[in-house]
Amino acid sequence: TGRCVVAVDGPSGSGKSTVSRRLASALGARYLDTGAMYRAVTWAVLRSGVDPQDAEGVAKVAGETDLKIGVDPEAPSVTADGIAVDREIRGPEVTAAVSAVSAVPAVRELLVAQQREMIDAAGRIVVEGRDIGFVVAPDADLKVYLTASAEARAQRRSVENAADLTATAADLARRDRLDSTRAADPLRRAPDAVVLDTTALGIDEVVVRLRDLLTERR
Ligand code: C5P
Repeated sequence: TGRCVVAVDGPSGSGKSTVSRRLASALGARYLDTGAMYRAVTWAVLRSGVDPQDAEGVAKVAGETDLKIGVDPEAPSVTADGIAVDREIRGPEVTAAVSAVSAVPAVRELLVAQQREMIDAAGRIVVEGRDIGFVVAPDADLKVYLTASAEARAQRRSVENAADLTATAADLARRDRLDSTRAADPLRRAPDAVVLDTTALGIDEVVVRLRDLLTERR
């Protein structure tokens, strides 16, 4: 079992995280949640009192923050300057500011370099994000683009976060717009990505399909 990199991209609520973790477990591979890295930098920006719209200030905080990401699919974890931030990075304050922080090119450069190092060190890894197939791992063995209807995505996120459906739908629409229209590495489908619509597919079905695809390609 040699090197195997799977890139999973798609918008929020497309099922990326659950699918990526389960696939990694099934493959005996590591799991990297790049969204957690952008969220952890956002947490550090908010903690330092820097305005998330202040690109220079944001870049400075990103450069000074010591991020550590655990890549065990059974227990992913993230610390910023030694502080476990797993819960805080899912909160409404970070979610509201993360698209602004992740649009700063210097932040992306820094995190993409760290992501590539982690991928090289792991060898076998499932990586999820917005720009994995295009930018982070263009040579991935399998590229997947997950989608789902806006309604299904909002429904899943509001259940996950025990949040109001209308507010969740509005927040997802806002982040989708920012993430796919920003100048630096916007969310896009790689031309060689396998597109799977998860609106009507169960997680297990998606994971089985991806495993079959990987087997076919060996
Ligand atoms: O996947 P998740 O919803 O946790 O990602 C949070 C945010 O991080 C996204 O809305 C996007 O702005 C940013 N992100 C990114 N590039 C990635 C992963 C996440 O810009 N590879």
